[in-house]
Amino acid sequence: MTAGDLGEVLAIESQSFPNPWTRGMFESELRNPVSSAYAVKIYRDNGFVVAAYIIYWIVYGEAHILNIAVHQDFRRQGLATALLDAAIDEMRRLLVYEVFLEVRRSNDAGRALYKGLGFREAFERKNYYGNEDAIVMVKDL
Ligand SMILES: CC(C)(COP(=O)(O)OP(=O)(O)OC[C@H]1O[C@@H](n2cnc3c(N)ncnc32)[C@H](O)[C@@H]1OP(=O)(O)O)[C@@H](O)C(=O)NCCC(=O)NCCS
Repeated sequence: MTAGDLGEVLAIESQSFPNPWTRGMFESELRNPVSSAYAVKIYRDNGFVVAAYIIYWIVYGEAHILNIAVHQDFRRQGLATALLDAAIDEMRRLLVYEVFLEVRRSNDAGRALYKGLGFREAFERKNYYGNEDAIVMVKDL
Protein backbone atom coordinates (compact mmCIF):
# COMPACT_ATOMS: atom_id res chain seq x y z
CA MET A 1 0.00 0.00 0.00
CA THR A 2 1.31 3.45 -0.88
CA ALA A 3 0.06 6.96 -0.10
CA GLY A 4 -1.32 7.09 -3.65
CA ASP A 5 -3.69 4.18 -2.88
CA LEU A 6 -5.33 5.90 0.08
CA GLY A 7 -8.26 7.48 -1.82
CA GLU A 8 -9.44 4.05 -2.95
CA VAL A 9 -8.55 2.43 0.37
CA LEU A 10 -10.66 5.00 2.25
CA ALA A 11 -13.63 4.31 -0.04
CA ILE A 12 -13.42 0.57 0.75
CA GLU A 13 -12.88 1.34 4.43
CA SER A 14 -16.05 3.44 4.65
CA GLN A 15 -18.18 0.77 2.95
CA SER A 16 -16.71 -1.91 5.24
CA PHE A 17 -16.79 -0.63 8.84
CA PRO A 18 -19.20 1.28 11.11
CA ASN A 19 -16.22 3.24 12.56
CA PRO A 20 -13.87 3.57 9.58
CA TRP A 21 -10.22 4.51 9.97
CA THR A 22 -9.26 8.04 8.92
CA ARG A 23 -6.65 9.00 6.32
CA GLY A 24 -4.35 10.01 9.19
CA MET A 25 -4.58 6.53 10.72
CA PHE A 26 -3.56 4.89 7.42
CA GLU A 27 -0.75 7.42 6.92
CA SER A 28 0.57 6.70 10.38
CA GLU A 29 0.69 2.95 9.57
CA LEU A 30 2.57 3.65 6.32
CA ARG A 31 5.22 5.45 8.42
CA ASN A 32 5.29 2.89 11.25
CA PRO A 33 8.37 0.63 11.01
CA VAL A 34 6.63 -2.34 12.68
CA SER A 35 3.65 -2.11 10.33
CA SER A 36 3.16 -4.02 7.05
CA ALA A 37 0.51 -2.67 4.69
CA TYR A 38 -0.39 -4.38 1.41
CA ALA A 39 -3.02 -3.59 -1.19
CA VAL A 40 -4.25 -6.03 -3.86
CA LYS A 41 -4.88 -4.39 -7.23
CA ILE A 42 -6.99 -5.91 -9.98
CA TYR A 43 -7.15 -4.86 -13.61
CA ARG A 44 -10.65 -3.54 -14.43
CA ASP A 45 -11.94 -1.07 -17.04
CA ASN A 46 -8.50 -0.23 -18.48
CA GLY A 47 -6.72 0.28 -15.18
CA PHE A 48 -5.80 -1.21 -11.83
CA VAL A 49 -8.20 -0.74 -8.93
CA VAL A 50 -7.61 -1.46 -5.26
CA ALA A 51 -9.67 -4.55 -4.43
CA ALA A 52 -8.46 -5.38 -0.90
CA TYR A 53 -5.90 -4.50 1.74
CA ILE A 54 -4.37 -5.73 4.96
CA ILE A 55 -2.39 -4.05 7.72
CA TYR A 56 -0.53 -5.91 10.45
CA TRP A 57 2.24 -5.41 12.99
CA ILE A 58 5.06 -7.77 13.79
CA VAL A 59 6.63 -7.13 17.19
CA TYR A 60 9.03 -9.58 18.86
CA GLY A 61 7.62 -12.79 17.41
CA GLU A 62 3.97 -11.76 17.74
CA ALA A 63 1.78 -10.45 14.92
CA HIS A 64 -1.38 -8.37 15.26
CA ILE A 65 -3.73 -7.95 12.31
CA LEU A 66 -5.15 -4.44 12.60
CA ASN A 67 -7.22 -4.12 9.45
CA ILE A 68 -8.37 -6.20 6.49
CA ALA A 69 -11.13 -5.37 4.03
CA VAL A 70 -12.26 -6.33 0.54
CA HIS A 71 -14.11 -4.07 -1.92
CA GLN A 72 -17.78 -5.07 -2.09
CA ASP A 73 -17.47 -5.91 -5.82
CA PHE A 74 -14.73 -8.46 -5.12
CA ARG A 75 -16.01 -10.32 -2.06
CA ARG A 76 -16.49 -14.11 -1.83
CA GLN A 77 -13.77 -14.72 -4.39
CA GLY A 78 -11.05 -15.78 -1.97
CA LEU A 79 -9.21 -12.44 -1.79
CA ALA A 80 -9.21 -12.11 2.01
CA THR A 81 -8.08 -15.73 2.31
CA ALA A 82 -5.26 -15.13 -0.18
CA LEU A 83 -4.14 -11.96 1.64
CA LEU A 84 -4.14 -13.69 5.02
CA ASP A 85 -2.31 -16.73 3.61
CA ALA A 86 0.38 -14.45 2.18
CA ALA A 87 0.65 -12.50 5.44
CA ILE A 88 0.94 -15.72 7.47
CA ASP A 89 3.66 -17.01 5.09
CA GLU A 90 5.64 -13.82 5.68
CA MET A 91 5.07 -14.02 9.46
CA ARG A 92 6.43 -17.59 9.52
CA ARG A 93 9.45 -16.48 7.51
CA LEU A 94 10.09 -13.82 10.18
CA LEU A 95 9.76 -16.42 12.98
CA VAL A 96 6.44 -15.14 14.33
CA TYR A 97 5.02 -17.76 16.71
CA GLU A 98 1.51 -16.31 17.25
CA VAL A 99 -0.88 -14.05 15.33
CA PHE A 100 -3.98 -12.46 16.82
CA LEU A 101 -6.73 -10.00 15.89
CA GLU A 102 -9.94 -8.47 17.22
CA VAL A 103 -13.27 -8.96 15.45
CA ARG A 104 -16.72 -7.58 16.30
CA ARG A 105 -18.95 -10.17 17.89
CA SER A 106 -21.58 -9.46 15.19
CA ASN A 107 -19.14 -9.91 12.29
CA ASP A 108 -20.17 -13.39 11.14
CA ALA A 109 -18.24 -13.09 7.86
CA GLY A 110 -15.00 -12.16 9.62
CA ARG A 111 -15.37 -14.85 12.30
CA ALA A 112 -16.05 -17.52 9.65
CA LEU A 113 -13.11 -16.33 7.55
CA TYR A 114 -10.66 -16.59 10.46
CA LYS A 115 -12.02 -19.91 11.72
CA GLY A 116 -11.53 -21.33 8.24
CA LEU A 117 -7.88 -20.31 8.45
CA GLY A 118 -7.35 -22.05 11.77
CA PHE A 119 -7.82 -19.14 14.20
CA ARG A 120 -9.47 -19.94 17.55
CA GLU A 121 -11.70 -17.63 19.58
CA ALA A 122 -9.52 -17.05 22.66
CA PHE A 123 -11.27 -14.39 24.79
CA GLU A 124 -13.35 -11.18 24.61
CA ARG A 125 -12.56 -7.52 25.12
CA LYS A 126 -15.68 -5.90 26.58
CA ASN A 127 -16.92 -2.78 24.73
CA TYR A 128 -13.73 -2.68 22.66
CA TYR A 129 -15.65 -0.91 19.88
CA GLY A 130 -17.53 1.36 22.29
CA ASN A 131 -20.91 -0.22 21.68
CA GLU A 132 -19.79 -3.78 20.99
CA ASP A 133 -17.42 -6.44 22.35
CA ALA A 134 -14.46 -7.77 20.43
CA ILE A 135 -13.65 -11.44 20.13
CA VAL A 136 -9.87 -11.94 20.18
CA MET A 137 -8.91 -14.69 17.74
CA VAL A 138 -5.51 -16.37 17.86
CA LYS A 139 -3.52 -18.69 15.62
CA ASP A 140 -0.27 -20.41 16.59
CA LEU A 141 2.21 -20.51 13.74
C1 LIG B 1 -14.70 -10.31 5.94
C2 LIG B 1 -14.15 -10.00 4.53
C3 LIG B 1 -12.75 -9.42 4.68
C4 LIG B 1 -14.09 -11.34 3.75
O1 LIG B 1 -13.45 -11.10 2.49
P1 LIG B 1 -13.68 -12.06 1.22
O2 LIG B 1 -12.57 -11.82 0.25
O3 LIG B 1 -15.06 -11.94 0.75
O4 LIG B 1 -13.48 -13.50 1.93
P2 LIG B 1 -13.14 -14.89 1.19
O5 LIG B 1 -13.75 -14.90 -0.19
O6 LIG B 1 -11.68 -15.18 1.31
O7 LIG B 1 -13.98 -15.88 2.12
C5 LIG B 1 -13.39 -16.93 2.87
C6 LIG B 1 -14.43 -17.55 3.80
O8 LIG B 1 -14.85 -16.58 4.77
C7 LIG B 1 -16.25 -16.80 5.08
N1 LIG B 1 -17.05 -15.67 4.61
C8 LIG B 1 -16.66 -14.62 3.83
N2 LIG B 1 -17.69 -13.77 3.65
C9 LIG B 1 -18.75 -14.28 4.33
C10 LIG B 1 -20.08 -13.85 4.52
N3 LIG B 1 -20.56 -12.70 3.98
N4 LIG B 1 -20.89 -14.61 5.30
C11 LIG B 1 -20.45 -15.76 5.87
N5 LIG B 1 -19.17 -16.24 5.70
C12 LIG B 1 -18.33 -15.49 4.94
C13 LIG B 1 -16.65 -18.05 4.32
O9 LIG B 1 -16.36 -19.17 5.15
C14 LIG B 1 -15.70 -17.99 3.12
O10 LIG B 1 -15.50 -19.23 2.51
P3 LIG B 1 -16.51 -19.67 1.30
O11 LIG B 1 -16.63 -18.49 0.36
O12 LIG B 1 -15.81 -20.86 0.72
O13 LIG B 1 -17.81 -19.98 1.97
C15 LIG B 1 -15.08 -9.04 3.74
O14 LIG B 1 -16.41 -9.49 3.84
C16 LIG B 1 -15.01 -7.61 4.23
O15 LIG B 1 -14.19 -6.81 3.77
N6 LIG B 1 -15.87 -7.29 5.22
C17 LIG B 1 -15.88 -5.94 5.83
C18 LIG B 1 -14.61 -5.69 6.60
C19 LIG B 1 -14.40 -6.73 7.71
O16 LIG B 1 -15.33 -7.19 8.37
N7 LIG B 1 -13.12 -7.09 7.93
C20 LIG B 1 -12.73 -8.02 8.98
C21 LIG B 1 -12.70 -7.28 10.27
S1 LIG B 1 -11.98 -8.21 11.57
